[in-house]
Amino acid sequence: MYRTKIAGIGHYVPKNVYTNNDLSRFMETSDEWIQERTGIKERRFAERFEETTTTMGIEAAKVAMERAGVTKDDIDFIIFATLSPDYYFPGCGVLLQREMKMKEVGALDIRNQCSGFVYALSVADQFIKTGMYKNILVVGSEKHSFAMDFETRSRNVSVIFGDGAGAAVLQRSEKEGQGILSTHLHSDGADAEILAMHYPGAHANKWLKDKPAFPEKELGGLFMTTEQLESGAALPYMDGPVVFKKAVVKFPEVINEALAANDYTAKDIDLLVPHQANLRISQYVQQLLGLADDKVFNNIQKYGNTTAASVPIALSEAWEAGKVKDGDLICLAAFGSGFTWASALIKW
Ligand code: UT7
Repeated sequence: MYRTKIAGIGHYVPKNVYTNNDLSRFMETSDEWIQERTGIKERRFAERFEETTTTMGIEAAKVAMERAGVTKDDIDFIIFATLSPDYYFPGCGVLLQREMKMKEVGALDIRNQCSGFVYALSVADQFIKTGMYKNILVVGSEKHSFAMDFETRSRNVSVIFGDGAGAAVLQRSEKEGQGILSTHLHSDGADAEILAMHYPGAHANKWLKDKPAFPEKELGGLFMTTEQLESGAALPYMDGPVVFKKAVVKFPEVINEALAANDYTAKDIDLLVPHQANLRISQYVQQLLGLADDKVFNNIQKYGNTTAASVPIALSEAWEAGKVKDGDLICLAAFGSGFTWASALIKW
């Protein structure tokens, strides 16, 4: 079996900064509420007409590839994690392949929301370990701003999420003891609808079938009316407190699972890079694991929750800050919509 290392990591965030006070121009919220409940001070929103999930992913990919010392022709496979793709289909992977003028390599899109990047790492790791590929480009990118509603009715969602992208080049490593030690993936669909964007989707037909306001058609049609769109039916929905309660259980669980699988304990961790869901969640996990402040990386204050992009953006910033060094034990962990959650333990 081969080993997989992260040969290069990079990120890109749009230049438009929106502070909490900026958001309070559009909805009833406050800097105090947002900071107290989430730790977020500001977030980035992509250029509305110029930037997409793919274009941001490409910018992050270029940095990761340069740092890995590889060119587009070295990439054997593309994995793109996002919940906010440019199109409903096809996925962003092929768009990245086209725009970066890459060879006709395989492109896989992953739809695992906040844990998408860690799932993508795991998939890439299997392909490299078995010898099928040598260099895999893994991207996590999100343009949340395109689908968010900046009215008070959606304030629990729209103050949290931000745009951005992160990417990594995963590469076959010959060095014993280096690279991804293990990955751990989980799901529980029992609460699938409580953090979700329900439309458009095949479920819409079923849900609207018994609603007299929407005339039945014999075949086809989304059954979406203007009224329904205006009522917010096609907006992201989140029951925050339920997500919070599950997250604070599953984060430590999946981190401990990764540590135990490799005969480590929390005190061996050099840096924990958790998905940036909420600063309160990260602080709770830190406390539970007994980790010092400098062992947990947080940047949600600057970017909000960027879903599939949050782990690679944080890892890239941590690397740039010199907090990820050769030989360090790095733990990545994520939890989100689905619910899905995952961890990866890496010897850098
Ligand atoms: O990435 C993974 C997915 N997401 C998460 O991990 C998020 C997990 N959940 C959370 O982070 C928190 O639940 C939130 C930050 C989303 C919400 O914080 P909370 O402390 O759980 O607040 P809440 O939803 O229980 O709402 C408390 C109050 C409500 O008012 P009433 O009913 O008590 O009068 C809300 O309407 O806060 C109100 N509220 C707001 N007020 C000002 C909700 N959003 C806002 C807002 N500004 N943006």
